[in-house]
Amino acid sequence: MAQAHLIIVSLLLVLALFVDLSYSQPITDLCHPHDKKVLLRIKNHLGNPSSLSWDPNTDCAGWTGIQCNSQGHVIRFAINQALDIHGPIPPFLDRLPALTSLYFDGIPNLSGPIPSYIGKLTKLTDFSIIGTNVTGPIPEFLGQLTNLNLLYLYSNKFTGPIPNFLGLLKSLVYLDISSNLLTGPIPVALAQLTNIEILSLSSNKLSGNIPDFIAQKLKSIKILELNYNSLSGPIPPSLGFLPNISSIGLAGNQLSGPIPKSLGRGNLNFIRLSQNKLTGDASFLFEKANKNVMILEVANNLLKFDFTKVDLAPSLSTMNISHNMIYGSLPKRFSLFSTDSVDVSYNQLCGPIPNGRRYKRVDPIIFAHNKCLCGGPFPGCK
Ligand SMILES: *[C@@H]1O[C@H](CO)[C@@H](O)[C@H](O)[C@H]1NC(C)=O
Ligand SMILES: *[C@@H]1O[C@H](CO)[C@@H](O)[C@H](O)[C@H]1NC(C)=O
Ligand SMILES: *[C@@H]1O[C@H](CO)[C@@H](O)[C@H](O)[C@H]1NC(C)=O
Ligand SMILES: *[C@@H]1O[C@H](CO)[C@@H](O)[C@H](O)[C@H]1NC(C)=O
Repeated sequence: MAQAHLIIVSLLLVLALFVDLSYSQPITDLCHPHDKKVLLRIKNHLGNPSSLSWDPNTDCAGWTGIQCNSQGHVIRFAINQALDIHGPIPPFLDRLPALTSLYFDGIPNLSGPIPSYIGKLTKLTDFSIIGTNVTGPIPEFLGQLTNLNLLYLYSNKFTGPIPNFLGLLKSLVYLDISSNLLTGPIPVALAQLTNIEILSLSSNKLSGNIPDFIAQKLKSIKILELNYNSLSGPIPPSLGFLPNISSIGLAGNQLSGPIPKSLGRGNLNFIRLSQNKLTGDASFLFEKANKNVMILEVANNLLKFDFTKVDLAPSLSTMNISHNMIYGSLPKRFSLFSTDSVDVSYNQLCGPIPNGRRYKRVDPIIFAHNKCLCGGPFPGCK
């Protein structure tokens, strides 16, 4: 009995030693000397900016923005928020043989086009250039990066059309090329991105219709953002039938016609349609049946319907219906809204604003320019 006990105790001791050893020799933290040399060359090429704290006397696996695999090879290279880095994207990144994630984020003086050697980094799964002054067309060699899962090229100065070769990146789940100077239509080549979940093309100069293939082919879409372009024509009703869609942003375009009833099916959390030329009845968007809607923005359109009888969805937390031709009175449950997330100004509404101190103190601007709203911040109703 005592012997068995001893065996168990010594076994535990050996185990403890083993565990301890594996902790004290962190093989995963050893930067490969070749990769370290490449990183220091890049730093030197960038003029040794103080925003890159990389200290040659320390293990590069611990440097800010750098991550290595178990062989010590750099797999992640990220430079964030560096105001002191100037000029083009540095060379030599193609000498990091294991690189899978490459990020440049918040470097306003990074400029010039994307260098062509980036097309050789075929192991990349994540590639981001965000908030820079990088220019030129989105280059064709990006079509070679077929392992990309994420491509974020937003808030830069890219010009020209959305290129067809983006359709070759069939593994893409996240594509955001918003806030650039891109022109032309949304190309049908994007119909090949059948794994896409987030698609943002907002704040460019895109024109033409919202193509049908978005709803027909891109069945995995969860978030669709096409705000602030020059898109025209109707909203395809099929968008509302995408199985996993939760957010649709089409604000700031020239879309016309009625809002499709499918957007009131109850699957959407965020609906942004302000600043278009949409007409007709939108009351179904506000109704209880649209049971997941949280943010509803339809300001600056040509909508015309009676607001009185709308049975407001309890999930709704933000509504902006300003600058339309909406008439009737405020619906019954209106008083549940936080007053900093509502705007009903510039319509044809009439009748009482809910009682209570909250509505007496509110900035009257959110109720201004209606037909005959009374109470709240305005004189009492007669
Ligand atoms: C961006 O680049 C343009 C020229 O390509 C230059 O005129 C402008 O000043 C740059 N902006 C910044 C923030 O560096
Ligand atoms: C870098 O960018 C910032 C922000 O755009 C700008 O204010 C600054 O002048 C630029 N610095 C140089 C040296 O170009
Ligand atoms: C929708 O989401 C569910 C749950 O995440 C997932 O299993 C399903 O495959 C998705 N459908 C499509 C068409 O992507
Ligand atoms: C409502 O939308 C209009 C137009 O988009 C905008 O000007 C206004 O500031 C918005 N109101 C609020 C309270 O955000």
